[in-house]
Amino acid sequence: MIMLPGAAITHANFANIVHDIALLNNLGVRIVIVHGARQQIDAKLENHGIDSVIHHGSRVTDTASLSHLIEAIGSTRFAIEAALSTGLPNSPMHHANLHVRSGNFVTAMPRGVVDGVDLQYTGKVRAVDAHGLDEMLFNGAIALVSPIGYSVTGEVFNLTYTEVATQIAIELGADKLIAFTKENGVINDAGELQKQLTLLQCEKFLLKKETTDSHFSLKACYRACDQGVNRAQIISYIEDGGLIKELFTRDGFGTMVHRDSYETIRRARIDDVGGILELIEPLEAEGILVRRSRELLEQEVGHFTVMEIDGTIIACSALYPFVQDNAGELACMVTHPDYQGQSKAAKLLSHIEKQASKLTMTQLFVLTTQTAHWFLEQGFTESTLEILPQEKQTIYNYQRNSKIFVKRLKS
Ligand SMILES: CC(C)(COP(=O)(O)OP(=O)(O)OC[C@H]1O[C@@H](n2cnc3c(N)ncnc32)[C@H](O)[C@@H]1OP(=O)(O)O)[C@@H](O)C(=O)NCCC(=O)NCCS
Repeated sequence: MIMLPGAAITHANFANIVHDIALLNNLGVRIVIVHGARQQIDAKLENHGIDSVIHHGSRVTDTASLSHLIEAIGSTRFAIEAALSTGLPNSPMHHANLHVRSGNFVTAMPRGVVDGVDLQYTGKVRAVDAHGLDEMLFNGAIALVSPIGYSVTGEVFNLTYTEVATQIAIELGADKLIAFTKENGVINDAGELQKQLTLLQCEKFLLKKETTDSHFSLKACYRACDQGVNRAQIISYIEDGGLIKELFTRDGFGTMVHRDSYETIRRARIDDVGGILELIEPLEAEGILVRRSRELLEQEVGHFTVMEIDGTIIACSALYPFVQDNAGELACMVTHPDYQGQSKAAKLLSHIEKQASKLTMTQLFVLTTQTAHWFLEQGFTESTLEILPQEKQTIYNYQRNSKIFVKRLKS
């Protein structure tokens, strides 16, 4: 689900966003775009000398402004359809052949009278035709939905695009909601970008009750995640490549909102080798970890356990069994720098300890050069070479001079 405010559509970077959408569509990603038109509506009403009444952040849509509003929303939609239809030979859209479909997917009803003010043709979403949308997406089309809904009485209602997008994302069970805003994500009071927000953290930001686009976008992300959408992301429409960075890089872009239990710990598979290498290579280069070739890692990947967030490996560790000694060697314990200090490695270790106990291991040992204190804090104690299985003693690298730590496991 892509949520595009009206201001994004007139911005110079919009052409790049369109190229990214085309690329995603060609890769088979199913896309629904819901657009806003606040800027276009404001301009249209101003041209006609109409002053809108804003009540609790919502525009009161009277009969006089409704037709202008429909025009503004309609022309905004046409501008998006036109941009998605380009195909000039010297542009990334050449042969893109995107199929864009719109329709009566949203049934609306009036908001009614709020605190004594009749909002008239300002409505809210009553129902979404998820089946109709699904069918179009299944056929490879991009669904383009405007912030307009029709009531069962045949009237047209002005809707908030963030509400439309959220409701559709929830009904479709979207994997992700991407909210384009002017700012790239949520900035805290210290002026720092919040790269991730849990729903609980989100609530604190939402307490501020602002009426900015970013605030409404955050609210939409919160609601979507609270009701089943796995992730939501707030990214800037000003910067080129944000959408692609968000979807295809470990660090993403902007702010990610997620439900609390979004990380998974599992046994590594062969297709995780690339992700594990990305994590461990910088540490091998620094001499903190012993170098492993890709070939060796491919052979040993079955010993690895990984922690994954949003399809990306953010921590890993290996457990090598020494069956005769009822012992296991813990190695390659790494957390990506962006996620350190959040107990990820501690959780991974506790998972591996349970795994080791099931394999009837009674103790874990680890050889480390620079992480002694971390292991001490995890209940390991320093030990000597003699404690190691014979097989391990013979290959101990005296030059590396690693310290040896041991932890007895509860049975
Ligand atoms: C060690 C490491 C795996 C910890 O990952 P993590 O997910 O941040 O771990 P946790 O959140 O559970 O623990 C963080 C705590 O460990 C401390 N810590 C991190 N590295 C440490 C080190 N080398 N020595 C001592 N303490 C360390 C942090 O300061 C933090 O303490 P704090 O909460 O009091 O500030 C991570 O720092 C890392 O990947 N380091 C580089 C690789 C490495 O040395 N691996 C071990 C070789 S086997």
